[in-house]
Amino acid sequence: MSQFHFNPETYETLMAAEVPSYGRLQDEIAAASTRRDVERILDLGTGTGVTARRVLGVHPQARLVGIDVSPRMLAAARRALSAEAELRVARLEDPLPPGPFDLVVSALAVHHLDGAGKADLFHRVAMALAPGGRFVLGDLIVPEDRRDAVTPIDGVYDKPSTLPQQLAWLRDAGFVAATSWLERDLAVLVGDLKGAQ
Ligand SMILES: C[S@@+](CC[C@H](N)C(=O)[O-])C[C@H]1O[C@@H](n2cnc3c(N)ncnc32)[C@H](O)[C@@H]1O
Repeated sequence: MSQFHFNPETYETLMAAEVPSYGRLQDEIAAASTRRDVERILDLGTGTGVTARRVLGVHPQARLVGIDVSPRMLAAARRALSAEAELRVARLEDPLPPGPFDLVVSALAVHHLDGAGKADLFHRVAMALAPGGRFVLGDLIVPEDRRDAVTPIDGVYDKPSTLPQQLAWLRDAGFVAATSWLERDLAVLVGDLKGAQ
């Protein structure tokens, strides 16, 4: 996980080697994204488009905007996604694309931000969502039991936080937040905004 510049050619092999439950994580994110009336989706840290494809499989009618800091990863996503998907080279720290979105998803990208960066992002995600919108965050966490820290990280580019801390930041940002899946040092968190859905 500790590669600052992921190589799209070797990305899936790397994930299979370092994150054995990578496929399960993507399945759990897609399952947690099930909502009615999802027309606009924002994917944070799109990479080669794996998460985007899974979530669009659940919401085939939706329009997706994906952002990633890596033009090379997005070039691979461009080939994997339909022409309707809008892909932008941008950092998670930058202003988010204009909403409102009905759903924001992210897999294995937010742990590259430090604690203050995550808390700030969660506020900006809440602002980008429509009332009743949902944020599904699948990511590496600092587990309660350190023996569950099985994914190799570098402690510099990878800055995972604990589950309780991230749930607290989500709640501070206005979400009703819960954990929908947890396996060792991987988790899926769901944040819902109040309002129609
Ligand atoms: C491990 S990949 C995850 C990609 C995809 N979501 C998946 O699950 O396969 C992490 C992605 O986040 C991107 N990334 C890392 N830090 C970022 C940042 N600060 N802003 C935007 N993208 C970032 C990387 O370029 C990379 O494509």
